[in-house]
Amino acid sequence: MTGKPNQSEVPLHRLYRHFSELPYSLRVLYTATLLVLGTAYLFALIYLFYTYSGKDGNPRTLSYEDIVIAYSGSGKGSRLEAALRGSMSAMLPRDELSTLVSWAQEGGERARYEKEIRTTFDRRCMACHDGSNPHLPNLNGFDNVQKVIERDTGTGLFTLVRVSHIHLFGIAFIFFVLGTIFSHAYVRPVWFKCTVVALPFIALALDVGSWYFTKIFHPFAWVVMIGGALIGMSFAFMWVVSMYQMWFTRPPSVVLQRQEGATTDVG
Ligand code: HEC
Repeated sequence: MTGKPNQSEVPLHRLYRHFSELPYSLRVLYTATLLVLGTAYLFALIYLFYTYSGKDGNPRTLSYEDIVIAYSGSGKGSRLEAALRGSMSAMLPRDELSTLVSWAQEGGERARYEKEIRTTFDRRCMACHDGSNPHLPNLNGFDNVQKVIERDTGTGLFTLVRVSHIHLFGIAFIFFVLGTIFSHAYVRPVWFKCTVVALPFIALALDVGSWYFTKIFHPFAWVVMIGGALIGMSFAFMWVVSMYQMWFTRPPSVVLQRQEGATTDVG
């Protein structure tokens, strides 16, 4: 026989320990950790689904549109516009209505508000929206009106920064623990095992980075989704393989051979 040795002949690393070689206390600790991490992951998925799935108006699926809207906004008009075209349309004459809408669409300038818009609000809306009813938006004065003319531009930059740092710290820590446990599994080829360990960290960087890029270029929502899927797949793979090799399989033959060698050494 010539050429490269068969993968199964690659000798075990001096410091490698298979699950079967670990003391029971450590295996119990690993198992308990895996169980809690697995449960936490399920809750995270449920939370994710309910937070994002309804963004595009269809709460039954988590779609590309959901992700785009979450990060870059729906691009639809403001609350004021929606109300003026909907339930509030009967509160004022057509021409005044279109003046309000065009003013809001053009960004709601203060100067124009003071000059011609304020009187319309005061005359047509104050009867109900003067702030005395806590259930209705207060439309009294420029600062209050501004709150209902904001466009939906998606999750704010500062919120993203906050969520990013929590995510990066938290998820790196989880995959450090999971990867450490998984490092005791016997998986060949070695490059594949290393890829599985590294993948969630790469996917995490792609995922979090794409939250920001989606604001600028919508198709990055695909990267967010693919990143999330890769993280989930590597989590599932490491979890299942670790649990299975820890309790349900015989140790691989190379490990058994090494153990036999060790006993002979001792005598
Ligand atoms: C007769 C009372 C009355 C007047 C006058 C009135 N509104 Fe309203 N408005 C309501 C009530 C009640 C609601 C909450 C129920 C609803 O949304 O239909 C509401 C809700 C709203 C909302 C919030 C919609 C949302 O996003 O939930 C906006 C914005 C609004 N009104 C704008 C206006 C504007 C602008 C005017 C003047 C042109 C106006 N309203 C005049 C009673 C009034």
